[in-house]
Amino acid sequence: MSSRPGTQRSRMPVGMTCALPLLLGACSGYQSALNPQGSPAEAVSLFFWVMVAVACVIVIFVVSLLLIGTTRARNAPQARPLSYAHSRNLVLLAGVVIPAMVLLTFVASSASLDRRTATDPEPALTIEVVGRQWWWEVHYLDEHDNRIVTTANEIHIPTGLPVRFHLKSIDVIHSFWVPNLNGKTDLIPDRTNTSWVQAEREGVYRGQCAEFCGAQHARMAFVVVAHSPPDFERWLAGQRAPSAVPTEPSTLRGQQVFLASQCVMCHTIRGTTAAGRVAPDLTHFGSRRTIAAASTPNTRGHLAGWISDPQSVKPGNFMPPTKLPGEDLEALVDYLHSLQ
Ligand code: CUA
Repeated sequence: MSSRPGTQRSRMPVGMTCALPLLLGACSGYQSALNPQGSPAEAVSLFFWVMVAVACVIVIFVVSLLLIGTTRARNAPQARPLSYAHSRNLVLLAGVVIPAMVLLTFVASSASLDRRTATDPEPALTIEVVGRQWWWEVHYLDEHDNRIVTTANEIHIPTGLPVRFHLKSIDVIHSFWVPNLNGKTDLIPDRTNTSWVQAEREGVYRGQCAEFCGAQHARMAFVVVAHSPPDFERWLAGQRAPSAVPTEPSTLRGQQVFLASQCVMCHTIRGTTAAGRVAPDLTHFGSRRTIAAASTPNTRGHLAGWISDPQSVKPGNFMPPTKLPGEDLEALVDYLHSLQ
């Protein structure tokens, strides 16, 4: 019985030691503000580590004072306590003046960082992102309207160049956050906010809506794909082209199924008669990695399940179920995946 408290004390640090790598491990991967891949995110990450360092210094200082005080009190119990004036001055200095200076310094640095991460250098490219419940509409702006490219839930950018985002919402407040590339910026109805990124390395970075916006807020994600500038230009030119014309019997049948279904009420496929504007543009749907705002991978099985019963994948979203005979569903999946 008497050994138990000692055993429990010795287990605590072991538990914490085990948890720490797990916690930090979760901060270093696919979606992480502590694994910055561009200049705005690097500034955010550096600020975080400076705050951690200052906090550590303060904790060490306070704990040291505490230890010195208790040791002295134990060794010299008869020593005279500090005078009232001394005690008051110590409390004012260490409890009010120093904390206020530290906090004010952090507030000022944070405001300055906020300005720097929101203000871009002259951008090489401007992308408009419109938040909708619960997906992202993406327009690659161009001075010629017929060259504007519209996609959804997947944002492609060139590396090494500043990219500006115009952020809007058509329904409620959302927040655009790609932790590896920059901090959060809200998308607010009837207003355009701006943000920017400059990815230094090619890669795929996950983004997430960071403002609670309804039932499927958690499944309002997206991916950012950073390419070398020539690869990006090739990708953009491909996206400007109208949709692929079906040539196989299966994709031809799939197109007929699509055009005869309720899909056309909401979706656009450029080059066909489908011109709905309330759901994602599917002109190059087959080239996307995910469906339903990065909820699931864009595989045959997931796509067939999404078309047949989207409510079971993402309850409350605005896509109605489409009940099709098996062969029609197969053909529709073939067609949508042929839209590269
Ligand atoms: Cu959109 Cu949360």
